[in-house]
Amino acid sequence: MARRVVLDCDTGTDDAIAIMLAAARPELDLVAVTAVWGNHAVEHTADNSRRVLDLIGRTDVPVYAGRGAPVDPPPGVPAPRGSAEPDTLPLPPPTQQVEAQDAVEWLVETARAATEPFTLVPTGSLSNVAAAIAADPSFVEAIDELVVMGGVIERGGSLPDVETNVGYDPEAAQLVLDAGFERLVLVPLDATYRAIVTSEQRATLRPLGRAASVAAGFIEQRIASYRTLPAMNGRAAAPVHDALTIAYLVDPTLVTLSAATVRVHTGDSPTRGRTDITLGTGEVQVAVDADADRFFDLVRESLAQL
Ligand code: RIB
Ligand code: CA
Repeated sequence: MARRVVLDCDTGTDDAIAIMLAAARPELDLVAVTAVWGNHAVEHTADNSRRVLDLIGRTDVPVYAGRGAPVDPPPGVPAPRGSAEPDTLPLPPPTQQVEAQDAVEWLVETARAATEPFTLVPTGSLSNVAAAIAADPSFVEAIDELVVMGGVIERGGSLPDVETNVGYDPEAAQLVLDAGFERLVLVPLDATYRAIVTSEQRATLRPLGRAASVAAGFIEQRIASYRTLPAMNGRAAAPVHDALTIAYLVDPTLVTLSAATVRVHTGDSPTRGRTDITLGTGEVQVAVDADADRFFDLVRESLAQL
């Protein structure tokens, strides 16, 4: 039976590809998309999610819009800036409305009514998930696995010190880490930067159909903005961060996991948003590596199904 998955995203280009993969895979049953602020305002992330689902003919998947701001920011700390990407994905306006119900309410109600657990995959700020836990701490019991794209292990190298999903709402991230999920997998930048997609690989997607061609365009846009970053070391390539969470669900052997303890720098500290990730023992499973070639094979094979 396909695994029931809810994607909680701040849809820009990499969340969009995560949605496509989740919808394409027969192993997964994409129950709903809940939109959250992050890359863009929640109105845009909900609209973008709808556009992607329209593109791939999945108008049956409902989209709910949730939190548009951090859950409990310290006074005086300025709101983080979103992505430099345009707010709206270059796709036709959606034919279906975003659902009237609030995403957090829907998550809490769905968890309460669930007779079988479901998998939740947050790939934006953790504000929706934290709000759901705050509304009902037993929310966590309905989730068999929480797979979060967020955080960064290594500091002082070529990766940013603060990963944006955690940095957008550090208090929410810490609350989620402390909430007692049965299994919590964190996919940090260290893993997503190991699974970069090159310009040559991207070119092989174009002939595979409309959705794959759109995904190729998104990846090209990402390569244009990443190629000058030190982490790319001059290569024409880019990470597609959020897609790695779905690839992991389909084939967990694509990533290497390590038990870890994770703490988030919160409050008005100058290091706000950083993650202290200590590998070895702990309640969180952290992806420390990823197989780039097998990741891309899975992306290509999945997009070809759409
Ligand atoms: O740091 C990468 C993450 O931030 C991705 O989820 C991207 O979509 C942005 O939200
Ligand atoms: Ca995202």
